[in-house]
Order: sequence, then C-alpha cells, then structure tokens
Amino acid sequence: MPAMTLKVRLTVAEADLIRSVVLEAPDGSILPPFTPGAHVEVTIPDGTTRHYSLIDTDGSTAAPKAYRLGIRLEDPGTGGSRFMHDLKEGDTVEVTGPKNEFPLADSDAPSLLIAGGIGVTPMISMATALAGDGRAFTFHYAMRNAGAGAFVDALTGAHGDRVVLHRDDEAGGPLDVAALIDAADPATHIYVCGPKPMIEAVKTAAEHRGFAPDQIHFELFESAAEQDGDTAFEVELASSGKVYTIPAGRTIIEVLEEAGEDLVYDCQRGDCGICQTDVLDGIPDHRDVVLTDAERASNAVMQICVSRAKSPRLKLDL
Ligand code: FES
Repeated sequence: MPAMTLKVRLTVAEADLIRSVVLEAPDGSILPPFTPGAHVEVTIPDGTTRHYSLIDTDGSTAAPKAYRLGIRLEDPGTGGSRFMHDLKEGDTVEVTGPKNEFPLADSDAPSLLIAGGIGVTPMISMATALAGDGRAFTFHYAMRNAGAGAFVDALTGAHGDRVVLHRDDEAGGPLDVAALIDAADPATHIYVCGPKPMIEAVKTAAEHRGFAPDQIHFELFESAAEQDGDTAFEVELASSGKVYTIPAGRTIIEVLEEAGEDLVYDCQRGDCGICQTDVLDGIPDHRDVVLTDAERASNAVMQICVSRAKSPRLKLDL
C-alpha cells in the first residue's frame, strides 16, 4: 500500500493522556475511503510504524476530507505516542492505509460494543455507522475515571442512552462484561476493543454463553508483550536447523526478520492470527489474544509476534 504524506490540521487534548490528531492532504484533496474499524499506520522517526484507528463521527468515510486519530500517551520510552502527542499544526507525517482488520459484520442482528480506554476509537466509527443504518446497538465504554474518558460528549450527544459509561473508580471495579453478555440477545454481534484482560474476559464469557466465533470481534489496543522478568531464549527453525537467540525486549519476528528470514505477519500485537506458527518442540509463553485455551494448553501453536518461551528453546515449523 503506498504511503501518503499528510499534514496535521489540528491537535486537541481530549482527556488525561489522550490527544486527537486530525490529518489532511496538503492540497486539501479527498483522502482514500475507509470502513468503520479501519486503521492507518503512521511512520515514526525511528522508521517503525504505529497503528491508529480512524475516528468517524459524521458518516464521511466514503470521501473523507481528513483522518482523525486518537492517541494515548504511553509510558515514556514508547516513542510512537510521544511523537504523536508532540505533533503541531502544519507538521507532516507518513501514513499508510487505511486497512480494516476489525470490520462490522454484515448483519442486521443487534451489536454490543464494548470499549476499554483508548480502545474507544474504532468503536466511535462503528457507532456512527450503526446509527446511520438504523441498526440496533449499545455501546459500553469503560474508563479508569472521569478524567480518562475521551470523546464522551460527542458520543453521548450523538447516541444518547445507547452509550453507557463505566468509571472504574466510581463503580469500585472493572466493567462486568460477563453480565453484559448474559443479557445480550443470542444473535448479537459482540465487538470489543481494549486491553488484553478485557478482551479475554469478553471472549471467555461469550464462548461460555454459546456465541459463535463469528459473532465475537476483537482488537487489542495495547502493544503486547514485554513483561518484567523476560529472559532470552532460543528458536530453532525446523527447515534449516538455524538457531537464533531472542533476547529480552525483542520479539521472535524482529530477530528472525533482521536475519533475513521470510515471515508472514500483520498486526504484531497478537490479535490477528496471521503469524501463527506450529511449535514442534518446547513450551511457548503465550501472550496473544487469538488462541483458545485448548490451543494454548496444547503447546502446538503460537503467535510469534508477541509470545515467548517457557523452555530454553523452541523448535518452530519455519
Ligand atoms: S502478527 Fe497478528 S497475531 Fe501475530
């Protein structure tokens, strides 16, 4: 997909740690269309890219004059969000996309939208589209406290009591997603975007209640991965016998790709399933949100973009 150079038209503080950035073509021309749930990739100065969902509040996805992104400032050290927060009007950025790995299902069944934190951004476009099509939905938006809630006025103004806010500090704990799923019509399509524990709770509850896999849609909204105590491990490739060391702080994909190995992957967050690889020996340390509990327990497959190893070496079918 070719990259575009876009100009920053506007940046707005939306909540504690969250800014929106509005990008447009330097000549003001219409940008490529997108569908609700789509994202663009923005290239940051170190040459890597960051994935940001496109926010549509007025149904202009077919011929957008601008792209609006929402960015949460992560801990210092993750340069992407710092770069995005420091953008000023008139700056330019390289953007690739749009691309949609989290689309709305083509269904007239009700939709249950569940967003956690900055995971609200793709859901805003979904709610706009569902409302525009006259399709039934409810939108549960969970945040730590009132100051952490971005785009709340726009959402409640547009969708009224179809938007239900959950503030952890006022409620005394996280959103009870299982209760929402218990109360949902069995035909409902469930969409969740947020941190890993929220996605896992929704998937577990929905699977337990008998929702089919194609009714459960999710996108992880955090970079997966690093945990305190991570250590190096080895990866052996079955096809060549080559052995690579994966240090703490680096992923299998990063190390193998740097060495010239040919890999297939996409999200690099552990939620798309594209990089799934058979494990021939060793025990993976699963950090994705794709695999079922049974698949994880089998130790026979893993997502090499985020998962690591519990054994000193993994032998992979690569
Ligand atoms: S690249 Fe998407 S799960 Fe690994």
